Amino acid sequence: MKRTLITLGLATLLAASFACERRGGDNGTADNGGPIKVGIYGDLSGQTSSFGQSTKNGALMAIDEINAAGGINGRKVEYVMEDDQGQPQQASTVVTKLINQDKVAAIIGEVASSNSLAAAPKAQEAKVPMITPSSTNPKVTQVGDYIFRVCFTDDFQGAVAAKFATNTLHAKKAAVLGDFNSDYSKGMTQYFVQEFTGAGGQIVAQQSYTQTDADFKGQLTNIRATSPDVIFVPGYYGQVGVIAKQAKELGITAPLLGGDGWDSPKLFELGGAALDGNYMVNHYSVDDPSPAVQKFVAAYKAKYGIVPDAIAALGYDAMNVLADAVKRAGTTDSAKLRDAIAATKGFGGVTGSISLNASRDAVKPAVVFELKDKKLVYKETIQPSGGAGAAPAASPAAAASTAGASSPGTNANAPANTNTNAAAK
Ligand code: PHE
Repeated sequence: MKRTLITLGLATLLAASFACERRGGDNGTADNGGPIKVGIYGDLSGQTSSFGQSTKNGALMAIDEINAAGGINGRKVEYVMEDDQGQPQQASTVVTKLINQDKVAAIIGEVASSNSLAAAPKAQEAKVPMITPSSTNPKVTQVGDYIFRVCFTDDFQGAVAAKFATNTLHAKKAAVLGDFNSDYSKGMTQYFVQEFTGAGGQIVAQQSYTQTDADFKGQLTNIRATSPDVIFVPGYYGQVGVIAKQAKELGITAPLLGGDGWDSPKLFELGGAALDGNYMVNHYSVDDPSPAVQKFVAAYKAKYGIVPDAIAALGYDAMNVLADAVKRAGTTDSAKLRDAIAATKGFGGVTGSISLNASRDAVKPAVVFELKDKKLVYKETIQPSGGAGAAPAASPAAAASTAGASSPGTNANAPANTNTNAAAK
């Protein structure tokens, strides 16, 4: 009897250690000194395919640099990339696959907020940390304590756009043309309208479209009839390029104003010269003379032959923030890694100093550009707190800590050509 028990015990022990070995063999979450597996997901083939491609480029460049420098705590980084075709349902499916099949230790993605919102509950349930590089809708990180972002949020971005319209463009009447299926577009509209009307402006028209539309002339004709001073278009590049063209064709002279969703090398292919004189809010400027930005831009150009858009820079930053957290945690144990990511403060990213607040959001400045000759021409930088008064709904402590944060060595937070109080003019 006793002997049987011992044998049984031994067998269990053996089975357990075999199970562990197997985990170690193909499981990136095991702390066995083997490779650290990171899952990346994004749209590589759908309506917003440049979003996924740029995320992949940026994250892979970071991974290559990390591995060339010996890995994280001696462990190499491996990645699995999944294409979600820009569909929320697919995003949820591929994230489930990354968790259950690939057993990744952490996940990077998505770009479009609706896709991150669809997939984040899977990461949260499985307690696998997910960092979205570029989803800006506030609801994304509200999914739970394993969901993070390294970018600002739309309560800030929408307010920045409204401030720019009011203070710099001196607009009194604004029209809005948004994508009614997109969480990003809906949130941006809400925050823009709130800030613009709060400053005494009037919304004279509100029109919508969906991502599969190609003809926006009906909506634009309705908007034209209300003679707005500015037309806010919180959409993605695929539709924005066409909207800009059709607005010109209809003789509309009011500038279009948008957010980060415009950002893509494809925007200018679609909109061409019709984009001249329009404005957009974004995460960083490739013309920022800070060494961190210039080093990144040069390396990216050398590797991929194109100029990195903001999504590529954020993908690069997200991977580096993750690597920094693994290093500090000394492990990929999910709860410990979660805590280490949450503790990120003053990380010197390409897109600025990254500090995560209690809501797991980065509090960072935004940049406003004018579009001219197929280029983004820097206009102004608007800080999340201080003179511009465009503080996001973050805790004052978090906002203050970012404003005062000095990141070690590579602080890309303040471009030399920055006019930080632009909105206060
Ligand atoms: N912020 C957008 C969203 O949440 C995604 C995006 C980020 C698009 C950066 C372009 C550039 O949906």
